[in-house]
Amino acid sequence: MRALATGKLFLVGTLLAVCNASTDNFLPQRYQLGTKPSITTKPLQTGQSVTLDFDKNSVVTLDYGYEVAGFPYFQISDVKGPVQIEVKYTEQFDGLNHVWADGPYYFTNGLSNSFRVETFNITEPGKVESYFIQGGQRWQSIKVLTKGHITLTGVGFVPTIDRVDLDNLPSTFTCSNPTYNEIWKLGANAVAAACFDANSQPSTWEVTEEGAYIRGQKPGPGVNGMDWTDYTMTFSSRIVRGGTGWSVSQPISESGLLLLLISNLPDETTFVNTNKTLTPPNSIVVASGWGFVNQTTLDSQLVGSFPVSVDIKEGEWYKISTTLLSGSQLSIDIDGTPVLNISLADYGVSALSAGGWGFGPYQDQIALVKDVTVHASNGTLLYENGMRSSSILSEYGVRQNTEALCMDGAKRDRLVWLGDFFHTSKVLTSSTSRWDYAQGTLNYLLDTQLPNGLVSIAPQMGYNTSSLKEVLYSYYGLNDYQILGVLSFTGFFLRSGDLAWAKSVWPSIQRQISWILGEIDSNTQLVSFSGFLGDANGTAISAALVQGLKEAAVVADALDDAKSAQTYRDTATKISKAINELLWNDELGVYVRSTSSNTSYGVADIAFAISSGVASEERAASSLAKVAELKLTPGYKDVSTTDSSSADISPNTNGFLLAAAMEANDTSIAKYLLDNLWTAMTNDKYSSGASWEYVAQDLSPGLSLFTSQSHPWGGAPTYVLTEHVAGIRAVTPGHRSWIIQPAISGFDLDWVAASVKTQYGQLSVKWELGNKMLTVDVTAPRGTSGILSLPSSIQIKAIKVNGHKVTSGHNISLQSGSSVVTIQLG
Ligand SMILES: *[C@@H]1O[C@H](CO)[C@@H](O)[C@H](O)[C@H]1NC(C)=O
Ligand SMILES: *[C@@H]1O[C@H](CO)[C@@H](O)[C@H](O)[C@H]1NC(C)=O
Ligand SMILES: *[C@@H]1O[C@H](CO)[C@@H](O)[C@H](O)[C@H]1NC(C)=O
Ligand SMILES: *[C@@H]1O[C@H](CO)[C@@H](O)[C@H](O)[C@H]1NC(C)=O
Ligand SMILES: *[C@@H]1O[C@H](CO)[C@@H](O)[C@H](O)[C@H]1NC(C)=O
Ligand SMILES: *[C@@H]1O[C@H](CO)[C@@H](O)[C@H](O)[C@H]1NC(C)=O
Ligand SMILES: *[C@@H]1O[C@H](CO)[C@@H](O)[C@H](O)[C@H]1NC(C)=O
Ligand SMILES: *[C@@H]1O[C@H](CO)[C@@H](O)[C@H](O)[C@H]1NC(C)=O
Ligand SMILES: *[C@@H]1O[C@H](CO)[C@@H](O)[C@H](O)[C@H]1NC(C)=O
Ligand SMILES: *[C@@H]1O[C@H](CO)[C@@H](O)[C@H](O)[C@H]1NC(C)=O
Repeated sequence: MRALATGKLFLVGTLLAVCNASTDNFLPQRYQLGTKPSITTKPLQTGQSVTLDFDKNSVVTLDYGYEVAGFPYFQISDVKGPVQIEVKYTEQFDGLNHVWADGPYYFTNGLSNSFRVETFNITEPGKVESYFIQGGQRWQSIKVLTKGHITLTGVGFVPTIDRVDLDNLPSTFTCSNPTYNEIWKLGANAVAAACFDANSQPSTWEVTEEGAYIRGQKPGPGVNGMDWTDYTMTFSSRIVRGGTGWSVSQPISESGLLLLLISNLPDETTFVNTNKTLTPPNSIVVASGWGFVNQTTLDSQLVGSFPVSVDIKEGEWYKISTTLLSGSQLSIDIDGTPVLNISLADYGVSALSAGGWGFGPYQDQIALVKDVTVHASNGTLLYENGMRSSSILSEYGVRQNTEALCMDGAKRDRLVWLGDFFHTSKVLTSSTSRWDYAQGTLNYLLDTQLPNGLVSIAPQMGYNTSSLKEVLYSYYGLNDYQILGVLSFTGFFLRSGDLAWAKSVWPSIQRQISWILGEIDSNTQLVSFSGFLGDANGTAISAALVQGLKEAAVVADALDDAKSAQTYRDTATKISKAINELLWNDELGVYVRSTSSNTSYGVADIAFAISSGVASEERAASSLAKVAELKLTPGYKDVSTTDSSSADISPNTNGFLLAAAMEANDTSIAKYLLDNLWTAMTNDKYSSGASWEYVAQDLSPGLSLFTSQSHPWGGAPTYVLTEHVAGIRAVTPGHRSWIIQPAISGFDLDWVAASVKTQYGQLSVKWELGNKMLTVDVTAPRGTSGILSLPSSIQIKAIKVNGHKVTSGHNISLQSGSSVVTIQLG
């Protein structure tokens, strides 16, 4: 995929010549030249050249049309320079107007560029490729920063994800409403961008004989010293450009104390856009928190930049010692000379906790790191590493991905979230049908399982999670994610029917279920923990468990594990009874949040009460009527007590509701969500082509530029349209037996067509409403059979299957092969 580092690399800095041009790259579709980014663009022909000139047309805006990912490259045919170019990447257009585009992302390393702006020194014609993956973007800009010009004959991304044709996926959906077709693609684009093959995301460090060669990125932490305090961490560093960076007191899943040593910034290597306010020459920059600048919810406290008495030269080795005592007294020596000694408390920084250390310079900087030692305050040597062996990659969390995986988001939150996989696994089976991505992700999660059954809720990519379970323990919070994890597995199995794989992970799933069952309150028979979905002793989590147990029982049936199936069904019945007895508020006519919060209710409570089958038809309808009181623009707020003025709308929780409403035949809620919440994501002003993490009430991305706009958890319509509007669903695992239950009313649709890839072949339906006539074409693979189930609300006069009149009610049995069903309506 990517040219390996060579000796030459050290000479040319960031520039990496790539010989083999691939025809399968992601290419921009539209562009605009000007002096600043422009959302108004015109078509760009393949091979068309574009000249950027410092004196006029210094900026080109490139629109890829939808979310893409890969290594940026630039094919240059002519240079008058050298010229420096600043390249920005963003999901929503407005990011191009910002200093840091829509980044930086210091939440996790994610084996991609932590920054969304990078600078290149273009000296000669040829191809230049960025070292780092850009994980997800629709937009890019290139700006000439210095006198001169360049002519670009090709710009794009060498894909690090599958390059799929979103109009021709293995599983499809189209209908007479073009907006719904765009909405269906949102989830498909999100899984296409956020999921990838094993070994497709290379390490972001290079191990050399001189030490670790590290370009600007979020530092570690390493896995050692997670519970250490009051240590001195010493390392040698040689700055290649700009500065070197490191962290101390950094717990694995959190922020810590971040440090940079900036060189004297010589003209020969310093890009003209280097921010000398943030990173002044010959200084140490100190920040506490997630980074050196704030990025929405990732707060950072910039302690300041402190001049150092030593002239810091690039290309020379310095030995840097950092001591943090009592979580506050920070002192730094360079080659034995004290250069800094401050009390962080004096700067309003609260005491830092125990934690390890890591390495990563800032944007566009490069440094070598070697000979790391850590000493306790009594002088004992605690750790020593020359940093010249490839084992440091997994130790510092930057080893390439070893499994096919789905990230929580393509550009941000590039880690594997257990609970968020609920929607993802179903979006996958309804669109790209890359079952190996679902299986790889679940395998990776299960690799983190502790002996007690718990699975890590958000493992990162770059560590060896199976050997570091105890170190990663802090990632075992949000207990309801264990339930959503079980549902991700069962949801995937019911659709794929991959029995051999299910068998291989079943013991682990069962251990996970056992852990959850140990958390049932013996007084209430409800789940005793709270979490993301709702409260302890509450509806959402207890009902989600009922659903998980019922679905797990189907898996147990398929694996001839009758005993487990029985246990799971009995337990589900017991919990279901408790929910109906303790959590139904008859006066309000709704399932409430919890036994102790018995007048409030939320989207997840209602959704899971329905999808689990806990709610009777009557209680489902009554609860769904209460959803009206949660209604905002453009969707439903999570809980009745949520402050309406500031609420962001969650496509994740509204996705639970979308499916549940369809199961209860409430098309009005589903239509409201499609026409508002998901239609908002298609607005070109903000659109990435993929589904979003949150949506604000003004219809912009809910967390501003930070919003992950390729977040599969926001893509529920991709499977709900297929399964409930086209109506294709598995009755037995893998669609051996299926049902087709079209939603022929409620959405103002004239026709709908969908196809699902099953292990037996393609299962397809097209239905079309004419004048008093419904035509349904079904094509089913050999070895399968099913029923076409028509809404009880319609009046049927006559039915023909392949021209032959049949007498049947609203359920029509169909065999494999092609069936044309014509229904004359009354
Ligand atoms: C860009 O490359 C030229 C030619 O090699 C060199 O003289 C100049 O110092 C470089 N500038 C930066 C900022 O790297
Ligand atoms: C430089 O950094 C400062 C401090 O973080 C920031 O306010 C400013 O916007 C940055 N300027 C540029 C041009 O990057
Ligand atoms: C980030 O925001 C917080 C809260 O508004 C503020 O206290 C802090 O100074 C900001 N940090 C930076 C680096 O701008
Ligand atoms: C740093 O300053 C503190 C407080 O003035 C002092 O106690 C400590 O000895 C100094 N540490 C070093 C390494 O100079
Ligand atoms: C020095 O500190 C380390 C780490 O805190 C501890 O394990 C060790 O026992 C101490 N050694 C002495 C001699 O006190
Ligand atoms: C992770 O570590 C375990 C235990 O040391 C080892 O068996 C396994 O092969 C490692 N996995 C990878 C992918 O390196
Ligand atoms: C659940 O309710 C039972 C019965 O009231 C109570 O004993 C238990 O503490 C509750 N659990 C939690 C976590 O609130
Ligand atoms: C709600 O809880 C309060 C206090 O625990 C209790 O008095 C009341 O009966 C409960 N109401 C319902 C409808 O369950
Ligand atoms: C939804 O409609 C189908 C078909 O008309 C019917 O079989 C089912 O019982 C209905 N479900 C609910 C919850 O009303
Ligand atoms: C049609 O089949 C569905 C699914 O099996 C079932 O729920 C429904 O009761 C059946 N309807 C009639 C009218 O038999």
